[in-house]
Amino acid sequence: METVVSGIRSTGKLHLGNYYGAVQNFVKMQHEYNCYFFIADYHSLTTHPTPDDLHGNVKQVLIEYLAAGIDPEKATIYVQSDVPQIAELYLFLNMNAYMGELERSTSFKDKVRSQPDNVNAGLLTYPVLMAADILIHKATKVPVGKDQEQHLEMARTFGNRFNRLYNTEYFPESFAFSFSDKLVKVPGLDGKGKMGKSEGEANAVYLSDSVEVIRKKVMRAVSDSGPTEENQPKPEPIQNLFDLMKIVSSTDTYTHFDELYNKCQIRYGDFKKQLAEDMIIATEPVREKINAIAADTEYLSKVAKIGAEKARESASKTIREVREIIGFRSF
Ligand code: TYM
Repeated sequence: METVVSGIRSTGKLHLGNYYGAVQNFVKMQHEYNCYFFIADYHSLTTHPTPDDLHGNVKQVLIEYLAAGIDPEKATIYVQSDVPQIAELYLFLNMNAYMGELERSTSFKDKVRSQPDNVNAGLLTYPVLMAADILIHKATKVPVGKDQEQHLEMARTFGNRFNRLYNTEYFPESFAFSFSDKLVKVPGLDGKGKMGKSEGEANAVYLSDSVEVIRKKVMRAVSDSGPTEENQPKPEPIQNLFDLMKIVSSTDTYTHFDELYNKCQIRYGDFKKQLAEDMIIATEPVREKINAIAADTEYLSKVAKIGAEKARESASKTIREVREIIGFRSF
């Protein structure tokens, strides 16, 4: 059976980008593959080196994984830092990762722009740690959103380079995966680009947002004064709202508003109201479970403990073999 690995940084609650880009695929994949889903707390330190509540953030992601339907009896759910073998593989891979290729990564360049006062080595080697996450279980499929595509390419580069340098065929190649025909990019509500945690509270709708908050955020989403010519192309803020509608609403609803737009008869108030209601319905099952799961600390610690054990078992086998391939021997 093919092995799947994926993770989400522990920088807080999950938004619809995480849900539709990644978590929904996790839930479906757990029935068909040998799945490892983790909470990337090492990675979170690259942007938040002194978090106020590291454990609380990790717990929140664990709660939302479970609320979204990841089943600990089917998939292995674990916290990255519970598996220190990942850090060891990261160290080995770092020896064969080059400054030039790391500096060229789009996400590194973005971070240099967004946090110029903290361009740390962890940011530079972020894709190496991500490759270690994937290679530690020798995964071949990685469910992620569109923004992670380049990281996956780098993970293949590092795995292939290891194989070439040590003259082995140890690591398989892994590829980004989505059940839809393309990798998903969920737009934000601020009129430009993707939904993300760093783009400000109003840009993202969170799985844990209340119904009232969802309505408020969607009604305030950036739009414009409306189309003036029939069939005119949609500017980015409007296209983004339609893209969101395509994700959460039925095809009929989408077509209805698309036709109104093309005939210049759309009323954004009605359009947003419908979008908010459909978002509420689509996320209802997850929202309902979050509080109950959060209250069950015993269950959470059991899930994390069992997950850590299963993940460590697979990871220590890989590290043992990697050490041998490189040439580490005990006396
Ligand atoms: P992170 O925490 O930024 O996001 C987690 C997952 O959510 C997806 N995602 C989106 N998908 C579509 N539209 C959006 N607006 C959107 N925003 C986020 C991301 O593509 C991702 O799949 N580097 C990773 C975490 C990671 C990882 C790994 C993933 C660490 N190691 C190994 C896979 C395998 C990250 O920062 O994701």
